[in-house]
Formats: sequence, structure tokens, C-alpha cells
Amino acid sequence: MRWKLGGGVTAIAMLGAVTGSATDSGVAQRAAWRATYAAPATIPFPDENPYSRAKAVLGRKLFFDPILSADRDRACVTCHLPDLAWADGRRRAPTRADSDTDLRTPTLLNLAWQEGRLGWDGKFRDLESVAFVPISAPGNMGLPVEDAVARLSADAAYVAAFKEAYADPGVTKARIEAALATFQRLIVSGASPFDRWIAGDEAAIPVAAKRGFDLFNGRANCAACHGGWAFTDGSFHDIGTAVGADLGRGRFVTNSQVLRYAFKTPGLREVAGRGAYMHDGSIAALEAVIDLYDRGGIDRPSRSPEIRPLNLSADEKADLLAFLRTLNSEPGTGPALADLTEAAPRP
Ligand code: HEC
Ligand code: HEC
Repeated sequence: MRWKLGGGVTAIAMLGAVTGSATDSGVAQRAAWRATYAAPATIPFPDENPYSRAKAVLGRKLFFDPILSADRDRACVTCHLPDLAWADGRRRAPTRADSDTDLRTPTLLNLAWQEGRLGWDGKFRDLESVAFVPISAPGNMGLPVEDAVARLSADAAYVAAFKEAYADPGVTKARIEAALATFQRLIVSGASPFDRWIAGDEAAIPVAAKRGFDLFNGRANCAACHGGWAFTDGSFHDIGTAVGADLGRGRFVTNSQVLRYAFKTPGLREVAGRGAYMHDGSIAALEAVIDLYDRGGIDRPSRSPEIRPLNLSADEKADLLAFLRTLNSEPGTGPALADLTEAAPRP
């Protein structure tokens, strides 16, 4: 169902949503919002790196294989664990020396839909260009590109897998990157109660969560940055969290005030199960995240104009939380990565 709202209608509808009343306009507004969260029908793959089963199979093998680390003791899966929403559940990612890095491991869910740059501060141009940063970083997997290529070239099973994927047995950096990216684009979040509700099942989520959805899209303004099915705009904002030295996107774009302390908006799928939160793991619990937004974060020139104190009541905070909890997928609905198909799998 599609709703077209003129400016006047929107204003009245907003009022209905804000007061939480089940007026006709409040119902229309909620329906309009719901239409913006429809699940995608297909996974997008870039023209330069289209889906093929052989590439995805190779990427999956590489993702889980410690052969890509200097000491053969780490793989991508060391920090991006399927059971922890493809993150690691830690406050900060661990270095090889078992100290902590400055950053929390982000989830890899739904990156196929991420059009802009990746990384908390946008240091990665695209998904393909990420792989050799963790592989070669001395504090992480610690394997130089030439060594990675040499090791895989000396392994008959890999040579066969590269031949299958690229019709040529040559192992190259670009082919490793393309295969890993193809596999990662299949990492799509499973169906959640929220998705069933969006699809029309009114009983799928509690009434409190529906009020939380209205707040999320209305007065609490969360959807300004976390709108749409993947719950991220893929952009960078200062929401008033960081107090450290990390300037985020502002490290690269030095002439922009609003990019100081700006970090990438994380998607919110599986969010209730995968704290700590924020780029630096500085917030342990989801309740405390909502409190941060309620306060409006640190008031400073770089803070996004979309962030301001919300003055939520205790009931409203509980409603927002109830809504966020509906974004966790139901058992058995995750991506079918064990049994990859010839055609690109559907989400
Ligand atoms: C030591 C833990 C660790 C390992 C091992 C690791 N990662 Fe990560 N990953 C991270 C951290 C931390 C970040 C955030 C880095 C940043 O923003 O600069 C990240 C970011 C990413 C991102 C960007 C996600 C986004 O939303 O922007 C991708 C993609 C990714 N990793 C894929 C991989 C792949 C592929 C491998 C294996 C080749 C790998 N990672 C190995 C911890 C790890
Ligand atoms: C101006 C854009 C913006 C708005 C508005 C916004 N967020 Fe965020 N959100 C972000 C960014 C950016 C981060 C990451 C900040 C960081 O890492 O320091 C974030 C982080 C989060 C996280 C932590 C997720 C994780 O994986 O670490 C949650 C939960 C969250 N937001 C929920 C909300 C809710 C609920 C609202 C409304 C009350 C909201 N956001 C409003 C941009 C926004």
C-alpha cells in the first residue's frame, strides 16, 4: 500500500502520531512510515563484481580460513562471528598481542545495501577494498599481500577454487578481494517480528513496540539517520558520543565542521543482542543508548542538527526499547550460507 501525503496532511498526521492517539491521521502516518521499511526482493551486486556461486564459495572458504594470518591463528571469523551478528560481542576488537584496538568490531549484516564508504570513519572506499586492511595490518592478521598470494598459490585446493571462480588458476589480490566481498554481500539479516509486522501481520509485535515505531519515525527522529529496511543512511554524523581524540570522518575531511567526531551510522538489525555499542564500545547497554539520545549527547558545533534533547518519558523510553527488540531475527531465518545456489540467493 502506498500513501501520498500532502504537506498539510503530514502535519496533521504527525500530531496524531505524537500524541499516540489512534486517529485516522495517526493510522495513515504509521502506514506511510511502514511502507518505507519493505524488505528488498533481491541482493544488489555491483556490475564490476557480479554474483557467482564459485566466487561466493571461495569467499566463504577464505573468510573462515586462518591461512590468511601470519601465525595461522586468525581469520575474518575471529572477529566477525555468525552467532554474534557477525561482530564479536566485545567492547573493542583485540589485537594480536591481545590488547584492545580503539574500535569496536562492527556487524557485517546487510553491507550489500551500503552504497557509501565503509569503516567507522569511512576509511574504506567499498567492500572489496576492506579485506587487505585486516589481513595485512601488523596488529591484526599480519600477513603481507605477497605472502597471502604465495600461500594460496601453493595450495592445490585453493588453486582449483580460483580456477572455478575466475576460469583461470591465478591467485591475485583483486580476486581475493572480489571473492570475499561476494560472500559478504550474502550476509543478510534474517526475518524478524518487525518484518512480519511490516508485511501485514498485526499480531507480530506488541503494542508498545508499535508506539516505539511511531516515536522512532516521529518525535524521537531516529529515522532521520536509521530509516529504511537496513536501518542506516550509510552516512557519518556526530551524535555527541565521542570525547576521545578520534575525529572519525573528520580525520579525512578536515575542512568540515559537522564531520568532526562523525562516525558511520550503524544498522540496527539484531541490535538488542550485540552490545557494546558505538564505534568505541563506550556504551554497554541499549537503555543507556536511549538515555544518550534523550539527553541529546554532547552539545558542540559538530553535533548533527538532527540531534537534540528529546525529554522522553519513562514509558516512551520503554516503547522505543520494545521497538528495537523487534529487530532481532527469528531462529532459522538467517542467510543460507551453507548451501549456496547458482543464482544469487534472495534475502
Ligand atoms: C581483530 C578483529 C578483526 C578481524 C580479524 C577482522 N575484522 Fe573486520 N573489522 C574489525 C574492526 C574493528 C572494524 C572497524 C574498522 C574501522 O572502522 O576502521 C572492522 C570493519 C570491517 C568491515 C567494514 C564494516 C562496516 O560496516 O563499515 C568489513 C567489511 C570487515 N571488517 C570485513 C572483514 C574481513 C573480510 C576480514 C578478514 C579478511 C576481517 N574483517 C577481519 C575487526 C576485525
Ligand atoms: C544524526 C543521525 C542519527 C540520529 C538522528 C540517530 N542516530 Fe543512532 N547512531 C547514529 C550514529 C552516527 C551512530 C554511531 C555513533 C558512534 O559510533 O559514535 C549511532 C548509533 C546508534 C546505536 C548503536 C548501534 C551500534 O551498533 O553501536 C543505536 C542503538 C542507535 N544509534 C539508535 C538510535 C535511536 C533509538 C535513535 C533515536 C532516538 C537514533 N539512533 C538517532 C546516527 C543517528
